[in-house]
Formats: sequence, C-alpha cells, structure tokens
Amino acid sequence: MQYINLLFLLLALSVKYSLLTTREFDFKDKIALVTGGAEGIGLQAISELLQNGVKGVTLVDINANKGQEATKALNEKFGKSKVIFVHADISSEQQFEDAFKTSINHWKVLDIVINNAAFVDENNWRMIINVNAVGTLQGTFLGLKYMSKNMGGRGGVILNMSSIVGIIPAPIFPVYSATKSFVLSFGRSLGDQVHYGYNEVRILTLCPGLTRTGGSVDIANLTSNTFNPHIIEIAAEFITNAVMQSASNVANAVVHVLRTGPNGSVWIVKDGEPPFQIDFPGNGSSQKINNR
Ligand SMILES: NC(=O)c1ccc[n+]([C@@H]2O[C@H](COP(=O)([O-])OP(=O)(O)OC[C@H]3O[C@@H](n4cnc5c(N)ncnc54)[C@H](O)[C@@H]3O)[C@@H](O)[C@H]2O)c1
Repeated sequence: MQYINLLFLLLALSVKYSLLTTREFDFKDKIALVTGGAEGIGLQAISELLQNGVKGVTLVDINANKGQEATKALNEKFGKSKVIFVHADISSEQQFEDAFKTSINHWKVLDIVINNAAFVDENNWRMIINVNAVGTLQGTFLGLKYMSKNMGGRGGVILNMSSIVGIIPAPIFPVYSATKSFVLSFGRSLGDQVHYGYNEVRILTLCPGLTRTGGSVDIANLTSNTFNPHIIEIAAEFITNAVMQSASNVANAVVHVLRTGPNGSVWIVKDGEPPFQIDFPGNGSSQKINNR
C-alpha cells in the first residue's frame, strides 16, 4: 500500500514539474534583465521581448554611450520608461550585483535574465574567461538569487548565450570556444530538475552560429598568432567565406526558446533558420561514464 502511495506521489510530482516546464511562458507583465544589450544580438533581443509584451527591461552594458543611445531609441519606439540603462562591467562582481539591485529597486520584480554579454579576443584570454565564463556564471547565480521561489522571487527563466563553438571545436578561437563550452555545461547541470524543483527558475542555453553584428565584423584580428603564425590569415579567409545570419534571427530564437524551452535544454540557431533543440547522451551513457 505504501509502495502504491509512493508511486502516486512520484507521478504527481513529475506531472507538476513537466507542466511547469513545458507550459508556454507568457511575457505579459514580465521584467527582464539583459546583459550586453547596447548593440548586436542583445539589443535585437530586447526589441523582440518588448514587441512580445514584456513590461520592462534593464539593459546592462559596459559601453555607456551605446547603452544610453540604445535605451533612448527603445523607449522612443516602445513607449516611455520601458527600458532603464545600468552601466556595468559584468566581470566586476560588485558592479554586476549592484546592477541587479538597481533593477530590483526600480521594477520591484525580476522574471527573465539573459546573460548575453561576451566578447572574443584570443590575445586577452584571461579577460574573456572573466567576462564570458565567470560573468555568465555570476549572472546566473544572481538570477537565481532574485527569482528563486525559495528566496522571495516569483520563479522565472535564465537564458545563457553560448555559441555553436561551445559544441564543436574552433581552432581559430580556442579560448572563446572553451568559455562557451563552460556556459553550456554549467547551464545543463544547473538546468537539472533537482534545481528547478527547488527554485522554479528554468535555465536555458542558446548556441548561435555566425551572426552579423558589430562584434563579428573584424573578428580575424581577434584571433592569435602566438602559437601558430598562420591563424589570423586562416581566420580572415574563414570569415570572408562564412555565411552569417542576422541578429534579428537570433533574437527571434531567444523569444522562442524563452517561451517554449524545457528546463536545462540547449538550442542551436544558425544559417538564418529557426532554432532547434539538441540532444546529449542520455542516462544510459551517463551510467556507463559513472561506472567506468
Ligand atoms: N556574433 C556572432 O557571430 C555570435 C555567434 C555565437 C554566439 N554569439 C554570442 O552572442 C552574444 C552577443 O554577441 P554579439 O555578436 O551581439 O556581440 P556584440 O559585440 O555585438 O555585443 C556585445 C555587447 O556586450 C557588451 N559587453 C562586452 N563586454 C561586457 C562586459 N564586460 N560587461 C557588460 N557588457 C559587456 C558590449 O559593450 C556590447 O554591447 C555573445 O555572448 C556572443 O558570444 C555571437
């Protein structure tokens, strides 16, 4: 009898979590915080969120001029006071925490965090690790701190921007690629149901392919010849021949993934096509790894 009760309890819990994680997310009355929103994919994503009914957005960026310009343009387009700008460097622990506090003080709540800010510069490898990996990690923890239902929040969703080179190797950007693998792996582990069950905050990962933005124009010069004299040349040739999608295609994917992505899911958006979710080795192979 006890066994049957336990079965019913497990069934009820799994139905509860699958409903919570698969029901379409409604943007109405939601507040978002987006890092790196002054230009490129982040700016397009904010525009798309507002188009889809989000109530307000905090735009966090290290570039004060572009951040203020973008905020002004967004407020002109979508209505006064829809966006506030917070000038912060996400690799600074204090500045990033203060950005979240400013956002909460202004909007009172938080529902969506998009950890989008990142950059490529293989000659500045320590800094890209601090921004792309550590900054995204802190942004995820801050998102949980302010949105977790067990810490006074009302639940929510965090989307971390990885890259297709977080899945496949990128010989011309080895350090950048590693930071994006970090983001992906961290999001998958924290996206486990055991965390969702406690916090009710979905953790999602999006991996764009090459995308035309301010940051990707001069990308060959951001590679490094230090350990191979030909890399910049190889990168320049690769970029010349590459097919680049638009930032607005990635922004559409951001909205789709936020709306429908199950907790812990990883998505690819490339070549201007709609996003698709990818699978990783399932429990069977994890078991094999665990028992090696
Ligand atoms: N463009 C691509 O081809 C491409 C492909 C795959 C993934 N991505 C990822 O998409 C995201 C956005 O890329 P993008 O091409 O739009 O870049 P972008 O350079 O056009 O914009 C990045 C924004 O982040 C801001 N930023 C950079 N460092 C920051 C910091 N320390 N603190 C706060 N803000 C900071 C910049 O000022 C800028 O506004 C990044 O995570 C990037 O890795 C881009």
